[in-house]
Amino acid sequence: MTETHVTKAPVVFPQDRTCPYAPPPGYDPVRETGRPVTRVQIYDGSEVWMVSGLAEARALLADQRLSSNRERPEFPVFQRRLEGIERRRVELLGVDDPEHNVQRRKLIPGFTLKRTTGLRPAIQATVDRLLDEMEAQLAAAPGTAIDLVSAFALPVPSIVICALLGVPYEDHDFFEGETRKLLRGPEPEDVEAARDSLDAYFGDLVDRKRARESGMPVGLLDDMVEVFEDKEELVQLAAILLLAGHETTSNMISLGTYTLLEHPEQLARFRDNPAGVPAACEELLRYLSIADGMSRLALEDIEIAGVTIRAGEAVILSTSLINRDPTVFEAPDKLDVERGERHLAFGFGIHQCLGQNLARAEMEIALSTLFKRLPGLRLAVPAAEIPCKPGDTIQGFAELPVAW
Ligand code: HEM
Repeated sequence: MTETHVTKAPVVFPQDRTCPYAPPPGYDPVRETGRPVTRVQIYDGSEVWMVSGLAEARALLADQRLSSNRERPEFPVFQRRLEGIERRRVELLGVDDPEHNVQRRKLIPGFTLKRTTGLRPAIQATVDRLLDEMEAQLAAAPGTAIDLVSAFALPVPSIVICALLGVPYEDHDFFEGETRKLLRGPEPEDVEAARDSLDAYFGDLVDRKRARESGMPVGLLDDMVEVFEDKEELVQLAAILLLAGHETTSNMISLGTYTLLEHPEQLARFRDNPAGVPAACEELLRYLSIADGMSRLALEDIEIAGVTIRAGEAVILSTSLINRDPTVFEAPDKLDVERGERHLAFGFGIHQCLGQNLARAEMEIALSTLFKRLPGLRLAVPAAEIPCKPGDTIQGFAELPVAW
């Protein structure tokens, strides 16, 4: 390692955003080095590698010498709240090839573009119904603010993933609450308890699916009980799909709404060009980079960008910095809904987001319908008063008060 890969004072990762859609200003020293691979400090004071260059991130995410296996004793834990579950197995996301490939191949049929395209009418119907309810709520109490997260941004993906998996949506308060605890703690015990209660919930659900209990919604989970024999594996996979399926997209919808409202010229272009909605959503994915921080462990020495990542060293890939790599994106800090460039918001390589087709369909339908149906939509309080979620979780808002 040479001096140029080290910032003057150690930069700590992760940090809280001050602007909900921009990387924390505390990461500026990393950007200022102009180096795609640097060193940062994590919560316990130890140093790890930080990847902020897009080409380097693609190369590393495609490199089998980097492991995602959280059961390895040296696997990095970047958040104190994860200490309680740090060595627990995480299926799919935390499994390396060839085992990962076996799991992923069994799941792919449920998430193909064709299958997701077939879900679009149902997603549109859900979006329309929720907007009807919001309008009725406002008609009953004119002048009041409505929380866009609980009224719209969270239920859209939550209802959709429940229907896709065949999970009863009436349990949503339970699993949404446990997911919040799993992702935010704050204490390691909260995270451990949330993981245990989600395991118990899905254990019961898997039993009921296997018993073909009547009256249960039918979906992918019913196919999965046929192809996965191991109950523990099945329970974990179900939990990952449900969690990843609602929490991420929900934040993209709420933060995407906020960001467009804060960029009226871009919003006008978004609204005036229905054919440009998919490109605009790609730009929002790049710009917001809500899943900021993929973690890996080097299994062998890796030479990259003039440094050597040694076997046993930890690597963080920061999507918020990678997606603003100035060597790839012109004026990277500018939102441009017509930009149409590739980003790494869904990751890359073998773990690239399995649900990306679904997430795109939901975002496109939710955001375009929202701004079409409610052209006067606005934030109900000054933007600066809306707190963002802490930096160590999926980025977005717990609440977003709006009016129209
Ligand atoms: C806009 C919303 C979303 C974003 C930004 C997002 C982001 C990501 C990222 C960055 C990864 C890679 C993690 C890594 O390599 O360590 C990932 C993986 C994954 N995502 Fe998403 N995701 C989103 C929506 C969804 C949805 C709707 C689902 C539906 C079930 C989903 C399911 C998954 C799964 C199962 C994986 C693990 C894939 C594997 O390890 O093979 N995601 N996601």
